[in-house]
Order: sequence, then structure tokens, then C-alpha cells
Amino acid sequence: MAGWRRQRDQMVDMITSYAGERVLAAFRAVPRHRFLPEVAIDEVYRDQPVVTRRDESGLPISSSSQPAIMAVMLEQLDVREGQRVLEIGAGTGFNAALLGHLAGDTGSVVSVDIDQETVDTARKHLADTPNVTVVCGDGADGVPDGAPYDRLICTVGVWDISPSWRDQLAPAGRMVLPLDLRGVQRSVAFERDGDGWVSRSVEPCGFMRLRGRMAGPEVVRMVRPGLTLSLPDPHGLDPDRIGQLLDEPTNEQVTDLMVSGAEVFGGLSLWLAIHEPAWCVLNEHGHRWLAAAPVRMQPDTGMTAGVAGGDGLALLTKPDESAIGATGFGADGDVLTVRLLDHVRAWHAAGRPGTSGLCVKAVPPTTPADGGEVIDKTYTRLVISQT
Ligand SMILES: C[S@@+](CC[C@H](N)C(=O)[O-])C[C@H]1O[C@@H](n2cnc3c(N)ncnc32)[C@H](O)[C@@H]1O
Repeated sequence: MAGWRRQRDQMVDMITSYAGERVLAAFRAVPRHRFLPEVAIDEVYRDQPVVTRRDESGLPISSSSQPAIMAVMLEQLDVREGQRVLEIGAGTGFNAALLGHLAGDTGSVVSVDIDQETVDTARKHLADTPNVTVVCGDGADGVPDGAPYDRLICTVGVWDISPSWRDQLAPAGRMVLPLDLRGVQRSVAFERDGDGWVSRSVEPCGFMRLRGRMAGPEVVRMVRPGLTLSLPDPHGLDPDRIGQLLDEPTNEQVTDLMVSGAEVFGGLSLWLAIHEPAWCVLNEHGHRWLAAAPVRMQPDTGMTAGVAGGDGLALLTKPDESAIGATGFGADGDVLTVRLLDHVRAWHAAGRPGTSGLCVKAVPPTTPADGGEVIDKTYTRLVISQT
């Protein structure tokens, strides 16, 4: 068996728990290396994202997403033979090819990307895939020419739900979006519910953000090479100062609570997003800046969350097998550490709510909320509850 086939099979074996046989068969049928021709085969067939384009500050603006999360979202989307699919965020074209495989010869896929160069490259990769068309444009407008679509998927993080997507999706259609919940993303499979939407499934995810006319207010900044700071609600905070504060650790406090990385990613970060307006996220990739990041995907890829405000910062820490704690930085670090650990204890006391059982409703902005946490966007009001 050719080397890449064995490596592809090993990669598919790694993601079997995330999707059913139809989706896994698509991953076997569509080789990822055709969409990443300049990347070493070893790297292509790992279950990790591969960045393909960065902006002038070094922030990733295009990539081939992590296969596991692609599998999760394709499962959520449930594409059937013969369906018409719209993808926002063509990137390399790999996911569009998987969608094309799932829709079959009688179905079709339109994929849109905001960057002309990305579109040109994706078209090259998809030259032998006749049921997929790639167009250049702002995906916030959808692609009206191909509507109505049976399925719509965003492979880029969205802050709000565009009215164009509602207009272009067939009445019984389904859409899957990495949706911003105050800085935390969840991949939500939505179906229509009256004049709004209701979630059919919700999964943790983490995508680069949509650019263009519907980009959200969140500030995302590379504060050091490979270290990205996200401030969901910047409140006038200076992201560069927050980067500098990392050199000014003050104190460290540890709780007696054992919390796994998956619980931080799937539950505690969502709790902070909903309950702490000044929360922030730090992600590292390719560098090891965060010595005790509670979420670690690879030795040099990790994530932590915390609270930033005044002239200070507090971040969650979890040295290998120990309980969760927090480190403070800067003049206000001590106060913020106490505040952060109070959130950890409150989340624990509430039964450690996570992503499973989460229900997201998206209703028109003026609709009265009937219970649940409310997050207001421009075109939608999100109502989040736990079932
Ligand atoms: C994570 S990549 C998509 C991965 C892709 N589906 C694949 O399989 O390779 C996100 C893409 O979204 C694109 N994007 C960002 N904002 C956009 C917008 N407003 N409209 C369309 N595409 C956008 C980026 O240029 C980038 O290529």
C-alpha cells in the first residue's frame, strides 16, 4: 500500500469516534494531500489543522481545518445524496470535496471564499470534482445564484446569523455554524423553528473568525509569535499591554479541584463566557509560552482562559496532574486571580455544566426571552439553556 494510503487510514482511524460510516468513507475517498500539495505527507495525515495563509501580523486567515472537527460538523450537517450544499469558507477546497462526495453525482456544492487567491488555489485542487463550484465573495451574502440550498455550512467562526443564509436555505434545510457565544465557539446544527432557529446538536469547536461585513467585535491579536489573545469584549483594554503583562507574574493559587482539559474547553470556558464580561482566551501554536495551560492538544499547542482588566490579568493554570489554579499578572493580578477562582468554584458547584445538553435558540432580536441566558447580536437574539 502506498505510504500516504496507510497514513490516511491511520488518520481516519483516529477520528472514527466523531462520525458515522458515510462521513468516514468520504475521508477515505478524498485524499487530503491533494489539497495541501506543499505540505509533507506526515503532517498532512495528522489530526490537526494546517495553516495555509496568514495576514501581515502573522494571524492565520486560511487553513485546512482539523479532520476531527470536520468529521463532527459533517455528521451534524447530515448531507444526503442529491442535495444542494452551500459552504462559506472554501479554504483549500478539502471540505468542499468531502461535501461533494456526500452529495454524490446528483447533488452539488457551491463554496465561497472572500480571498481571490484562496479561490484560485481551491479551484485548482477541485479541477477533477465536477459537482463543486468555488466562487469569490463575502459569504455573509451567501451565494444567491445557487439557492435554495438543502444544507449550509460555515467553516469559519461566525458572530451572527446572516439574514441571507435564512433566505437562501430551503424551508426544511439545516445549517451548521461555528457560532460565537461571547468568545466561545460552538458548532451548532440549526433547523427552522417558527421565525427563528433551534439547535439539533451543539459541539465544541474553535475556528478562525469570519472577515468582511459581518465580522464580529472581538479583538484577536498575535501578542507574541504563535501566541494569540482573544478579547471577546475589549472594553477599551489594550491587547499589547495584556501581552506585556505575561512578563509580570505576581502570585499563583491552586484549588483542590481536579478539572480536565476537556472540561475547561467544553464547560468552564463557556461558563466564563456567560458569567464574566472581562474574560479572555490565550491560544499558543508552534511555541510553548504557556507553561501550565489547562488545555493541551500537542506539546506546543495549548489554550487557557482568564480575566483581564485594569492593569492585570489572571489565567487558569493546571500543571500536569495537579488541581486547577490561577496565576495573576500585573498590579491587579491578585484581585483578578480571586475573581477567576470564584468562577471556577461556582461552575463546579453548579454541577460542572458542559456542552452536552446545551440548547441554542436564535430568535429575531426583539423577541422576549422565555428563560435561559440571552446573548444579543445584530440580527439575532441567542437564548442558551441546558436541557
Ligand atoms: C478554516 S478556513 C476553511 C477551511 C476549508 N473549508 C477547507 O476545507 O480547507 C476559513 C476560510 O474562511 C474564509 N473566509 C473568512 N471570511 C470569509 C467571508 N466573509 N466569506 C467567505 N469566506 C471567508 C477564509 O479566507 C478561509 O479560507
